[in-house]
Amino acid sequence: MWWKSLSRPTYKNFSKSTGDHNWKLYLGLAGLTATTLGLGLFYYGTRVETKRFRLEQLRVRTGTIGGAAGAKQGLKILHISDLHLSGNDDEKVQFIRQITDEDYDLVILTGDVFEFLDGLKYGPSLLSRKPRLGAYAVFGNHDYYDYSIFNKTFGRLNRKYRHPAKRNNVEPHRISLEAGGFKVLVNESVSISEENIFIVGIDYFGIAESELQKLMAEAPDDALKLALFHVPKYLDTFSKAGFHAAFGGHTHGGQIRVPGLGALITDSELSRKNASGMIDVGGTKIHVSRGLGADPRSNIRLFCPPAATVIELIHGPAAAANTSISTTI
Ligand SMILES: [Fe+2]
Repeated sequence: MWWKSLSRPTYKNFSKSTGDHNWKLYLGLAGLTATTLGLGLFYYGTRVETKRFRLEQLRVRTGTIGGAAGAKQGLKILHISDLHLSGNDDEKVQFIRQITDEDYDLVILTGDVFEFLDGLKYGPSLLSRKPRLGAYAVFGNHDYYDYSIFNKTFGRLNRKYRHPAKRNNVEPHRISLEAGGFKVLVNESVSISEENIFIVGIDYFGIAESELQKLMAEAPDDALKLALFHVPKYLDTFSKAGFHAAFGGHTHGGQIRVPGLGALITDSELSRKNASGMIDVGGTKIHVSRGLGADPRSNIRLFCPPAATVIELIHGPAAAANTSISTTI
């Protein structure tokens, strides 16, 4: 009879209904957890980690490239990079002023100094103290270009759109930095003869091999030869040219790192494992900074806090290579 079928819910139907319900519940909970975790990481990456500025310490002995040292030298170098300064960067600049209130032999700044023109106001007051042998800087791609979100997304797929068509006049950038005691090197060298140090600053756009050879020909044979650059590209150039050590940035250490996996991208020829830090390429010690800023369009750092590095560089008759790292702030 029809009323009998109505009053007879089967076990099978009941079970299916409960299973569907549980499956949707679990899916909903998993979605909610993933969303909460994602939002939490986004908040942490954009609001907290980008401001967790650190000062790291590194001691390194120069490699075997570049000719013998005239005498043993020890230099305390502060390496800062990728500041990406815009008008509201008081906290970052305060950190830089705090760490430069120290005695350094050299301060080096390896590009992507300014993101927007309103950041130029910080140039004259970046350094609290003038380093003993001077402060030197090179420019990076963000100094030369004002990137749009289109460049940063579609440009990854099509290199034609990687950079904006218009290049900035960086003269105001240079004036701002030089008012603060930096010497900006655009494919130029500087010789600190009293300490037998020779520094070459390589511009973001690179340098022709012949031009670099011409600059290096001016270096005394037994000088400590240092290079500043922005993008880690053609890194074997430095050992071929005879540099003892070179310093760059650009990678931001990957900016987003996955625990156990490392940087997702390096935007350079570096492997994900070597997205930042000290490496030896052909006998030249190369330090790639994680930098103190982030691209403001993403403005996120995850498991890759911004950092400046104090490098104690020892140049002289080689003993066993000795590299150590520690964090002080
Ligand atoms: Fe950068």
